[in-house]
Amino acid sequence: MKFFIDTANLKDIQEAVDLGVLDGVTTNPSLMAKEGIKGVDNVMAHYKQICDIVDGDVSAEVIAVDFEEMVREGEMLADLHPSIVVKVPMTRDGVKAIKHFSEKGIKTNCTLIFSAGQALLAAKAGATYVSPFVGRLDDIGHDGLVLVQQIVDIFSNYGYPTQVLAASVRHVPHLIQCAEIGADVVTCPLSVITGLLKHPLTDNGLATFLADHKRVNS
Ligand code: G3P
Repeated sequence: MKFFIDTANLKDIQEAVDLGVLDGVTTNPSLMAKEGIKGVDNVMAHYKQICDIVDGDVSAEVIAVDFEEMVREGEMLADLHPSIVVKVPMTRDGVKAIKHFSEKGIKTNCTLIFSAGQALLAAKAGATYVSPFVGRLDDIGHDGLVLVQQIVDIFSNYGYPTQVLAASVRHVPHLIQCAEIGADVVTCPLSVITGLLKHPLTDNGLATFLADHKRVNS
């Protein structure tokens, strides 16, 4: 399973790279705004910086909502760096744009997926990734992981090359369950990735090993 970090924070991205387990980055307009990145030139420069830090796919989302503008914006993003994946929302124009990008060999990530039907449509249009939002479905009383399972099963039934990128992954159990289901990718904050390190028995065991070593070597 690939690990993507869901942030536009360069320090967090660098920390995940340094850990040696990062396969890519996803961003969205909210995450860019959180870092205070505004204006086309600054946004483009920030994406470039992210691509220079990470060896892997970097999703950069279009702001446009109509087909022509999505295509213009997406092509500009794709020209920025070979790692850029154009992130497109699940709308009628978005599906048309995904088809267009797919025919031009530009990678896409179809975002804001909340149903299996939306994922199927994006796969048929040639999306490289589909992003079901696990946590946001949980927020409204649904089980986001059931959707991930449905999409994995459907893509497997037909051998679709589209990768299932579980997004809005909020905590370690989400990530582990995505791995059990067979999601191709999870994207999550740094805290979820570093959360995988933690177990109290590891801490206690290490403390005992070091204390025993010190006792006989001092
Ligand atoms: O990748 C989508 C993600 O940024 C949404 O996460 O936690 O805001 O639902 P969240």
